[in-house]
Amino acid sequence: MSIIVTGGAGFIGSNFVLDWFGTSDEPVITLDKLTYAGNPENLASLAGNPHHQLVQGDIGDTKLVAELLAKHKPRAVLNFAAESHVDRSIHGPGEFIQTNIVGTFHLLEAVRAYWNGLPDDERAAFRFLHVSTDEVYGSLKKDDPAFSETNRYEPNSPYSASKAASDHLVRAYHHTYGLPVLTTNCSNNYGPYHFPEKLIPLVIHNALAGKPLPIYGDGQQIRDWLYVKDHCAAIRRVLADGKLGETYNVGGWNEKANLDVVHTLCTLLDELSPRADGQPYKNQITFVKDRPGHDQRYAIDASRLERELGWKPAETFESGIRKTVQWYLANQAWVANITSGAYRDWVNTQYDA
Ligand code: NAD
Ligand code: DAU
Repeated sequence: MSIIVTGGAGFIGSNFVLDWFGTSDEPVITLDKLTYAGNPENLASLAGNPHHQLVQGDIGDTKLVAELLAKHKPRAVLNFAAESHVDRSIHGPGEFIQTNIVGTFHLLEAVRAYWNGLPDDERAAFRFLHVSTDEVYGSLKKDDPAFSETNRYEPNSPYSASKAASDHLVRAYHHTYGLPVLTTNCSNNYGPYHFPEKLIPLVIHNALAGKPLPIYGDGQQIRDWLYVKDHCAAIRRVLADGKLGETYNVGGWNEKANLDVVHTLCTLLDELSPRADGQPYKNQITFVKDRPGHDQRYAIDASRLERELGWKPAETFESGIRKTVQWYLANQAWVANITSGAYRDWVNTQYDA
């Protein structure tokens, strides 16, 4: 038995693969295009592990995917592969349409052909798990209840619209062809290997580099933060016992305004790695132009996952964010390797630095 993990060299996918081997020795084939966001270094600790293989390739390459499926005969495919950064989707939506919609379609087609050819018992046991986001539900007002699985889809950015489209395709492949699918919709993750284009790692990186900490608009937008390893544990639970064709919301019950998150990071850095001049890191906070179409608030109601599958996050925001800051301080070489030419070009475009 084995599983295929697409996008397994990215932030959440690599945490998932690393954690998988903490609980199982079932082989994993990681299929990743290794875009700017995919980093084989995230999986470096698996070098020499005979149960892991990294294959560079596109989920939209039906021939390659068909070959991998025929060769490895996995019992599950977990789809983490995506273009994931909202700001990049605003600057250039094309790649988001290509990977998140067209790529997912080709992946589903290859998986459907493979699944159709399996013996009955293996067909029944097979799973296609699609990793999605809470952003498909749109934006909440201050007093609205948190998103539940029955909220209607109201995506507002090219990124969330492309993820919503992929969710619909996955749903349709179950309804029409009977493909045994599961979908998870998760809130904002944070933790090790988070690419420093996203708020939390960007702020840690900029703070230590003595650069401005850019807050979009008034910084009062709310996100619901979940430590990445809790997300990975939720995916393992859904893979094991989720009901076919169903969707599961995953979240940490940790709603925070962006400005509060940045203040928390500054306070932790003041304690763990104080500035040489003795000044607080919060002095680097800078308010910048808002994100176009910026969603005001996300909040996930994860009660179904707890009630039906017994999953609850292990980390509070306070414990998870401390671990995260400590990880970045201990892994400055990882950050330095990433913040190369292509990364600097992006930062210059986005922040007029
Ligand atoms: P990421 O950008 O860090 O990683 C994405 C990975 O997919 C990279 O390794 C990249 O190389 C790979 N990839 C991109 N296009 C590909 C293609 N065509 N074929 C194969 N591989 C390709 O993203 P992430 O934050 O780890 O997110 C993983 C998944 O989780 C995404 O589907 C995202 O929508 C979803 N998600 C993310 C969050 C979050 O807070 N980061 C929250 C909820 C859901
Ligand atoms: O909700 C889940 C989603 O969370 C995932 O589906 C996405 O893949 C992931 O990127 C994330 O999207 P966000 O847009 O919420 O994450 P980001 O880290 O880009 O931004 C978090 C908040 O911080 C958001 O309100 C925008 C704000 N922000 C972000 C950056 C990069 C700033 O104020 N300044 C910044 O420089």
